Amino acid sequence: MNALEHFFCSSSFWRCFCERKMLPWVLAGNRPGEHVLEIGAGYGAGTRYLENSCARVTALEYDPRSVLRLKRRNNRGLANVVCGDGTKLPFAAATFTSATAMLVLHHLKSEEQQNQMLAEAARVLRPGGVFVGFEILDSRLNRVIHVGSTFTPFAPEGTIRRLTAAGFGNVSMDVRSAAFRFSATKGRVE
Ligand SMILES: C[S@@+](CC[C@H](N)C(=O)[O-])C[C@H]1O[C@@H](n2cnc3c(N)ncnc32)[C@H](O)[C@@H]1O
Repeated sequence: MNALEHFFCSSSFWRCFCERKMLPWVLAGNRPGEHVLEIGAGYGAGTRYLENSCARVTALEYDPRSVLRLKRRNNRGLANVVCGDGTKLPFAAATFTSATAMLVLHHLKSEEQQNQMLAEAARVLRPGGVFVGFEILDSRLNRVIHVGSTFTPFAPEGTIRRLTAAGFGNVSMDVRSAAFRFSATKGRVE
């Protein structure tokens, strides 16, 4: 991430937006169950909301600087904070009842890595577990904002196909002007 993204993602404005608008929209109609995995938790803008929504939260983040801040912020000790890579999740299969990826997929360097993260989310979810995500659309503005950072757009057009290939079913999407949400359910394992 570049300096602008670090500033924005650690701001109280973004935390308020996540708690009041984005997460209620993304989670609407989905039951997170008792153990949610937050992939790419960043500075924890959504972590407290998730802590208040289900019994156990595991917040996984790639960037050690954000992990330190997340651990300091987490003085209530509710979330288990883990430093790791969402494309190689350090968890056993079928560990979680739900998983989230908010503004994370576009930070991966290639479509292959994005597909790998989708497959990993499917692997660590229990059968029937829910995966929800929030992504921004490709635009000139978003490309400018990500100068010096990574921006591999995750397009809504391929989302159903890619989630299905990763092992999800029951995919739904809702595209707004500049962003979209998706939700999907891990298919039953025979
Ligand atoms: C734009 S931030 C969003 C953070 C948080 N979800 C939020 O909404 O505030 C994207 C985050 O994804 C993290 N990230 C990037 N690649 C990752 C990976 N391979 N595994 C886990 N997290 C990753 C980045 O370090 C960054 O904290």
